Amino acid sequence: MVSRQLKHASQKPALAVVVLAAGLGKRMQSELPKALARTRECSLIEHVLQTCGALSPERIIVVIGHKGELIEQALTTSPHLGAWNKSKISFARQAQQLGTGDAVKSALPELADFVGSVLIVCGDMPLVKRESLEALLAVHNKDHATLSILSLQTNDPASYGRLVRNASGAIEKIVEARDCSPAELQINEINSAIYVVDSAFLEPAIQKLENNNNQKEYYLTDIVARAASEHQTVSALVLHDAKEIQGVNTRYELTMINQTLLEKRIRELIEQGVEMVDPRSVFIDSEVTIARGAKIGPNVQLLGKTVIEGEVQIEGTAYIIDSTIKAGAHIKLGVRIEQAVVGPRASVGPFAHLRPGSDLGAEVKIGNFVETKKAKLAAGAKASHLTYLGDCTVGEESNIGAGTITCNYDGYEKFETKIGRDVFIGSNSALVAPVTIADGATVGAGSVITKSVEKDSLAFTRAPQVQKAGWSKNKREKSAGKK
Ligand code: UD1
Ligand code: CA
Repeated sequence: MVSRQLKHASQKPALAVVVLAAGLGKRMQSELPKALARTRECSLIEHVLQTCGALSPERIIVVIGHKGELIEQALTTSPHLGAWNKSKISFARQAQQLGTGDAVKSALPELADFVGSVLIVCGDMPLVKRESLEALLAVHNKDHATLSILSLQTNDPASYGRLVRNASGAIEKIVEARDCSPAELQINEINSAIYVVDSAFLEPAIQKLENNNNQKEYYLTDIVARAASEHQTVSALVLHDAKEIQGVNTRYELTMINQTLLEKRIRELIEQGVEMVDPRSVFIDSEVTIARGAKIGPNVQLLGKTVIEGEVQIEGTAYIIDSTIKAGAHIKLGVRIEQAVVGPRASVGPFAHLRPGSDLGAEVKIGNFVETKKAKLAAGAKASHLTYLGDCTVGEESNIGAGTITCNYDGYEKFETKIGRDVFIGSNSALVAPVTIADGATVGAGSVITKSVEKDSLAFTRAPQVQKAGWSKNKREKSAGKK
């Protein structure tokens, strides 16, 4: 048999990829086909296509079945696949799920004019590494093999197909666990279900498959015995880490895949210069970016499209979503920050809540038990304790005293408070919106401000202090007399 047609001996054969994704995935308990189950980054099949796309194949055939039109639609509009890869994808329909061999059979028409190596992968193995696929292709080419298998050496062969080798180590066949003899069940080398097959061998071998096995399915794995019996070269690349070829069959397995992807992301960040004292208690969504030099303490969740710039310090116990924390900011213990911007070198917390629309300028200070919402604080403004700032602007270097409340809501509508620059709001003041406190003004402690305050003036609303000499002493003595 002429197994490959090369223009030059040194040239690699052309590559086609077949992705099997017609399975039902019943155990996922979902309306979606399994291939579209999402990890924290993208769908299972998008992971596989990203990895295979990186091998620059000539074409990619996705075998779909159950709700295949959803997979087709998701992949044609996918934001996770480059246009170049998308243009190479074609879809093959497997009418009935009669087994992995039958799935490949439905891809054959798309391969009719193809000569080269066919890489067969499953659509539900998101962690497969490009390096492993490249290594498998390298072994296949080096050995001039007809068929090469990515296998795994493991102490827990479970229900995987077993790789049966003869006394000299040559691969003879793959036997599904259900069809294994007791001796075969003891074999520790299993089939990952990833293969490279020479196109000239694949077509006739698939056509000849039979379904006389425990499940009455057409097993793709049976092409291995055929190649061996025809004295074709069958090679294997043996992996030792089971994680990579972990398929997803249940929601729990999907959760565990996410855990692995998160660990990988955290490792990358640490290696890029982000400091984390307790990485296992840090959760980071896939679209979050964190610059080198940021320090992240224990128990931190960074979610959505959050951006953490360089030299930011997050002490710990923080929930930050869709927010930007600019360079050098200090996020102290125990904060929740949503759709907010924290300016350069600003400090927030401990125990503060920045709600949507909070926009803090450079070196702003938000202290303990302060809540902000649609509040724009210019550079150097401070609200250090026990304050609510809602629907307001605060100018540069203004100081908001402890216990200040912007009364922005009358029970029906919201109103705005405008505070200028270099303003001093005394403690425990209520600013009843709509109201303006102009630049340089002072509000006396304990005031209820209902009218606008002019530039550089002092405003206070306070009952005059009354003093009754000896009143306390008299009361004390009277009470003592009663006893
Ligand atoms: C398969 C292998 C087994 C290997 C295991 C690794 C066979 C016969 N067995 O078993 O040796 O150890 O993978 O995980 O191949 N699919 C279709 N159409 C079908 C059936 C399956 O497209 O009719 C797709 C599935 O969507 C899935 C892939 O093929 O992506 C593998 O199918 P699955 O049923 O999971 O195979 P296993 O029984 O696990
Ligand atoms: Ca499987």
